[in-house]
Amino acid sequence: MAGTAVDQLTEDQARGELARLAEVLAGANRAYHTLDTPEISDADYDALKQRNAAIEARFPQLKRSDSPSDQIGAAVSDGFGKVAHAVRMLSLENAFDDSDVHDFADRVRKYLNHTGDLRFTAEPKIDGLSLSLRYEAGVLVQAATRGDGEVGENVTDNARTIADIPQHLTDAPDVLEVRGEVYMSHSDFAALNARQAAAGGKTFANPRNAAAGSLRQLDAAITAARPLRFFAYSWGALSAPLASTQYDAIARLAAFGFQTNPLTALCDGPEAMLAQYRQIEQLRAALGYDIDGVVYKVNDLGLQARLGFRSATPRWAIAHKFPAELAWTELLGIDIQVGRTGALSPVARLRPVTVGGVVVSNATLHNEDYIAGRDAKGNAIRGGKDFRIGDWVQVYRAGDVIPKLADVDLERRKDGAQAFVFPHECPECGSPALREEGDAVRRCTGGLICPAQAVERLKHFVSRHAFDIDGLGAKQVEMFFRDADLPVKTPADIFTLASRDAANGLKRLKNRDGFGETSARKLFAAIEDKRRIPLDRLIFALGIRHVGEVAAQILSRHYSTWEAFETAVTHAVPGTAAWDELLSIDGVGQILAESLTAAFQNEAERAAIDALVAQLQVQPVVWKAATDSPVAGKTVVFTGSLEKMTRAEAKARAESLGAKVAGSVSAKTDILVAGPGAGSKLKEAAKHGVTVLAEEDWLALIEGA
Ligand code: IVH
Repeated sequence: MAGTAVDQLTEDQARGELARLAEVLAGANRAYHTLDTPEISDADYDALKQRNAAIEARFPQLKRSDSPSDQIGAAVSDGFGKVAHAVRMLSLENAFDDSDVHDFADRVRKYLNHTGDLRFTAEPKIDGLSLSLRYEAGVLVQAATRGDGEVGENVTDNARTIADIPQHLTDAPDVLEVRGEVYMSHSDFAALNARQAAAGGKTFANPRNAAAGSLRQLDAAITAARPLRFFAYSWGALSAPLASTQYDAIARLAAFGFQTNPLTALCDGPEAMLAQYRQIEQLRAALGYDIDGVVYKVNDLGLQARLGFRSATPRWAIAHKFPAELAWTELLGIDIQVGRTGALSPVARLRPVTVGGVVVSNATLHNEDYIAGRDAKGNAIRGGKDFRIGDWVQVYRAGDVIPKLADVDLERRKDGAQAFVFPHECPECGSPALREEGDAVRRCTGGLICPAQAVERLKHFVSRHAFDIDGLGAKQVEMFFRDADLPVKTPADIFTLASRDAANGLKRLKNRDGFGETSARKLFAAIEDKRRIPLDRLIFALGIRHVGEVAAQILSRHYSTWEAFETAVTHAVPGTAAWDELLSIDGVGQILAESLTAAFQNEAERAAIDALVAQLQVQPVVWKAATDSPVAGKTVVFTGSLEKMTRAEAKARAESLGAKVAGSVSAKTDILVAGPGAGSKLKEAAKHGVTVLAEEDWLALIEGA
């Protein structure tokens, strides 16, 4: 029923569809509000909500007691104290086009039976998360997230770390709850993600998630290190009115020291509101922070009070959303790209089209199921419609990510258009391309004999976090890979370039595009410079599937030297001590271990690795313990549930204090930190005489370190 037009639904179908929408929207809400990891786009979410509302309008008797129309956000997550809002934190009704805005103004007039002047404020809708700040006698006493609108999370300690939030107000009402949006600027978001990536931490999909994830940290010190900002736009409980209009009330909040949005304007009716909407839309890209629409509010607070609320939204305000950036164009072809690990990635070649100000001619198609109109579980997506070459397809861009295809117009499908047949052979080397069970991706099995995999691996090998060789980037790698005289087919070939060229008096390289004698010498010097390479960089540079930068660091810290690492992974097969040791490393799971050992135990791969290492002096990784901490050099294992911090935070903190964190208890373990629910590890610890600490004891031990 998912694809059936609302006016075509029978009552039974409508009932089923409302049940489905309630479930899908509840899941989406949870993903967005509680887990800070959205599963569907805002545009899709809005479309589902609209469909739900349209079905309810047609069949009012079917409206569910748990209808998504009546819900705001999602229940609070565990971990924070709860705060019951003195005045509910509401959501806003949405408008999607000009006529919705006219309708809103008409409805307001009708409700009030008002024929005179009627003014509205118009201001950007900030794409962050809302926060309510309670001041008593001018002192900030509490900060709470929206939660489900009735009960939010107590994030007072975290909010105190945000520079835009004043701790004290002068001349404020005795009780004042200021509401507004916490957000992160584009530049701060990019810098945070870069820092997180460099430290091997979690990166965020967008500034909103980054802001939410940063505010909702159990350790306020982490929030303090995150560049959060705050715009005030509303209020909750008040002991005395701020002003008689919305506009003046916001001006008072600004006078108290809050940031208020400079694009807030006073409008005398729908035409002026729409003009302000267009102006804000034009400025959107240059603002430096995300907004997703414009909010209109009735300016007269006396009228706002008369208008009051529906179940979850005020009658005196509406959010006019920006359209998703969408366009229709022709699907000219489907190319298959082969990546470093052999993954076959389909790419849509499109007739170039402008989407939100950017010309788009390629879009990702994800994998073969996606082209066929199925998800990973075999369920229909897009109503089961597949993409065929020659089809008219809808392309969209969300944020800075690669464009995607949202839909296909079956009415414009050409006669005789054939379903796309996804290749079962690698288009680059002809090797069989297989799908492992449970994997959405089909992979070329050619390994290093596949030129596409080989060249992608070389690009990875020279990339910034791997060997990072000056003057040898992706472009030069492509060139050398195809070079008949001085070919570079494997990483080892990079280190023999100079001697091979010297055999010919430096003549060969010098005469190539972009290379004079000086640049050739510079390149050779840069290569020479990287013969000494730290173990972690080498492991990462090998480009083994599932062995990323973080895993490479973990492995190198554990084994320290190339010899120890190489011996271990060469001999590690299930049932051996080497295998058990590999799996005992915290952060090394079955999948990683299998992928790593398979690479070292494969003859061709092994030959390439040996040839490379023969050219290098691999530098051991020395564990730099913070020697003045009480846990420096100790091996620590965490088990059971931790209450004051996440496992990831606990681990990062322990490591920053010089401890080694392991995944299982052995005779080498010094401390087991056991929370509620700890099981077999406690027994192991007793067996080996390992010190067992509760979470508080552990925190007391490292306090001040
Ligand atoms: S007014 C009772 N103004 O949008 C109305 N909300 O979709 C209170 N938002 O929960 C909200 N910018 O988190 C208002 N300028 C703005 C806003 C704004 C962003 C958020 C807010 C609200 C959500 C509703």
